Amino acid sequence: MRIVLVGPPGAGKGTQAAFLAKNLSIPHISTGDLFRANISRQTELGKLAKSYMDAGNLVPDEVTIGMAKDRMEQPDAENGFLLDGFPRNVSQAEALDEMLKSEGMKLDAVLDLEVPEDEVVKRIAGRRICRKDSSHVFHVTYSPPKADGVCDACGGELYQREDDSEDTVRKRLEVYHTQTEPIIDYYKAQGLVVTISALGKVDEVTKRAMSALSGEDA
Ligand code: AP5
Ligand code: MG
Repeated sequence: MRIVLVGPPGAGKGTQAAFLAKNLSIPHISTGDLFRANISRQTELGKLAKSYMDAGNLVPDEVTIGMAKDRMEQPDAENGFLLDGFPRNVSQAEALDEMLKSEGMKLDAVLDLEVPEDEVVKRIAGRRICRKDSSHVFHVTYSPPKADGVCDACGGELYQREDDSEDTVRKRLEVYHTQTEPIIDYYKAQGLVVTISALGKVDEVTKRAMSALSGEDA
């Protein structure tokens, strides 16, 4: 399956992607995690991306599309993938369509996670992620690690993302509404969008997502 996950910052895309990718046996591809891995390796791409991410803006399409394309061309993504955080505007969605079309492939579904803004703010405020692997995500109250400040998965140090400050979150939400939300209509026109509520416990949301993706009533 080739799936796109969409939803506001803090909706739980990364959290759900980890479970969905495992259940569906496809890789979880997060452009945010790819940028953060570049930042920790201090690559040129990482340095460039950081300036945009810290301000809550999108990293320019020229670099983002190439990076996403390279990742999707890896052998583990041959039979499908779950995209988290890409595409993030209509031109990225068009570039993805072009890329898939040239390979004779297409998307199967766009899973839209709906969460009210006050909940998103609570989720982001308590989020802690792992310094070794930013796809390991916790929450101080909702999904606390077994030991304070230590990642359950790999023992890495947990920290708060630089772009999770109040001002940057406000900017990211604005960017989501103006630049990312339009891709929902773009994909609705292709009949691909399934919308679910991302409220409730993590495993309840995963169940809802799995039934929605299999075409059952959520
Ligand atoms: P990115 O890393 O993609 O951030 P985002 O879209 O803002 O989304 P988040 O990662 O903040 O939230 P999430 O939905 O993954 O939530 P999570 O599962 O962590 O992008 C960061 C930046 O990179 C962008 O601003 C941009 O600069 C750049 N970038 C990335 N992709 C780009 C692109 N394509 N083009 C250009 N620039 C790009 O959950 C949040 C918290 O809630 C966690 O603490 C979690 O434990 C908790 N939680 C999750 N589910 C539940 C639940 N059901 N109940 C209670 N708590 C929950
Ligand atoms: Mg994420």
